[in-house]
Amino acid sequence: MSDSSLRKRRKDDSPPSSNKRTSESFKPKSSQNPNLLNMILIAIALAALLVYKAPETFNKLYNLVNPPPQWKSTPRGFVADFSADVEKRNAVVEAFKHAWLAYERDAMGDDEYHPIKHKGSNLTSAGGIGYTVVDSIDTMIIMGLDEEYKRAKHWIEHKLSFDRDANFNTFETTIRVLGGLLSAYQLTNDEMFLDRAKELGDRILPVFDTPSGLPLSMVNLGKRTGVSDVDNRGFVSTAEASTLQLEFKYLALLTDEEAYWEKAEKVMKVIKDGHLNTGLASIFMNPEDGRFVLSAIRLGSRGDSYYEYLLKQYIQTDQAESVYRDMYDDAMNGVHAHLIQKSPRTRMTYTSELIPERTPTGEISWRLTPKQDHLVCFFGGSLMLGAVTTGAVTQPVSIPPQPSELTDQGKRDWTAGRELVETCMKTHDTATGLSPEIVHFRIPTDGIDDAVAPGDCRLTTYNVEISNRPGAPPPYDARYILRPETVESLFLAFRLTGDPRYREYGWSIFQAIEKHCRIASGGYASVLNVDSVPVTHEDKMETFLMSETLKYLYLLFDDVNTLPLSKYVFNTEAHPFPIFHPTIRTGFS
Ligand SMILES: *[C@@H]1O[C@H](CO)[C@@H](O)[C@H](O)[C@H]1NC(C)=O
Repeated sequence: MSDSSLRKRRKDDSPPSSNKRTSESFKPKSSQNPNLLNMILIAIALAALLVYKAPETFNKLYNLVNPPPQWKSTPRGFVADFSADVEKRNAVVEAFKHAWLAYERDAMGDDEYHPIKHKGSNLTSAGGIGYTVVDSIDTMIIMGLDEEYKRAKHWIEHKLSFDRDANFNTFETTIRVLGGLLSAYQLTNDEMFLDRAKELGDRILPVFDTPSGLPLSMVNLGKRTGVSDVDNRGFVSTAEASTLQLEFKYLALLTDEEAYWEKAEKVMKVIKDGHLNTGLASIFMNPEDGRFVLSAIRLGSRGDSYYEYLLKQYIQTDQAESVYRDMYDDAMNGVHAHLIQKSPRTRMTYTSELIPERTPTGEISWRLTPKQDHLVCFFGGSLMLGAVTTGAVTQPVSIPPQPSELTDQGKRDWTAGRELVETCMKTHDTATGLSPEIVHFRIPTDGIDDAVAPGDCRLTTYNVEISNRPGAPPPYDARYILRPETVESLFLAFRLTGDPRYREYGWSIFQAIEKHCRIASGGYASVLNVDSVPVTHEDKMETFLMSETLKYLYLLFDDVNTLPLSKYVFNTEAHPFPIFHPTIRTGFS
């Protein structure tokens, strides 16, 4: 399996080395009116009494009239309309059919699809594991595509085999295939899906049999053995180890087999025991001793869904497992303290990476790098979801939440989340309207020639530097590979605010995909350089186009009562699972 086929893994990963302030100043107006003066004195006395008797209430009231400086409320002046935008929703369904029917015509059952060559391919020579079919089937169910669903289901029932003597990525197989089977089961109650899910779960389970309990990166599905990743010295990426829990815990709930739960949960204990004093996690861990390996810290590849699943594990079990809330809150404090930045000129919110370096004396220093993967664009919506969950004073909050309904941390995360969504939209301001895999932000010390990125950069209104330009920092990656992360955030942002701007944003991205990625004979292809038209295609339709990008776009335009966030949590591959109350108690704290 080529590295480029991995969703959250990237070629540029070098193997690891072992181990606002818009505060308006408050100007009291002096008053000459004695009545008013009396009233003010009485008010002050009452306020003092309130502070003394009920400090909590006072704080709430105080925040209401005088919100902390980091709070920026959602702009007013829009009318929230939560009903379906039928025309746009139907356009997304048409796109899905354009993708699926071409795949079905040319490559039915193959793991991956190349729409320009009209061919499929498998991840390994041992044969396919239903990567595309299983990943896409719940989107068909949600979109009401009954005929397509029946044919896909028939294939899963009669043709799908996991008896493949070859190595598959543990994480990708879990989120796409196990996740797809579980959500198909939950949406249809068809036992066949659960049987297949259980079979796959049993084949994957041996990966957890390591000294530490951390999973190995690869699994031989035919031999039912875990396999360590020689390319990365046997280390497992933190995001991959910590993005199996939603799937295995839901499988445990459905089958009453606690082993699935315990093995997935153990990973979280090992991570917590790794003593992340900043709340941030390096991107590699050692399955032998369960320790973090000295490696980068980032919200992009190999780090991303660690933070996503801390929050989502807390949500999945109906906010009953406080340990995940604590871990999430710590992590968000670390993210704000170390990774979230503002661009110097236009004050855009973005996230940096921390790269460890050894000084000549052998000490470790961390270098802040203003590089943001497209993958990080999940984080805007995730911060907003976290703000109304762990950052809420009471639940449910209003849509959009009022300042009084959120804690200071909730307000901080809500604001940063909204700003990050805006930044991600700005990365779409390219010749195609698509955003690149990686964006570099200008910083004063970046040494980039202003002729290459003049002022705020060539895309003149802001500091985004697309990394393919000569003189721009490496790595070279201006592709758009049909990724979902920005539309995922738009979906969450729309559900949590009702602000029509998010539907407009989603529509503009959808139109850019239609214009530049759609292949006339069927299917969609990646684009090699988002800032060059006409585009050059890369002949690959990633499975997450049908499982995530088009699903989130559909849900963005559908009625909000479809898969409401109060009842569902989406795995990192956009497969919806139900929120449930756990019968198993958390085994660590
Ligand atoms: C993928 O694997 C399946 C199952 O073994 C096989 O039928 C199909 O021909 C393979 N596809 C390609 C392109 O090799």
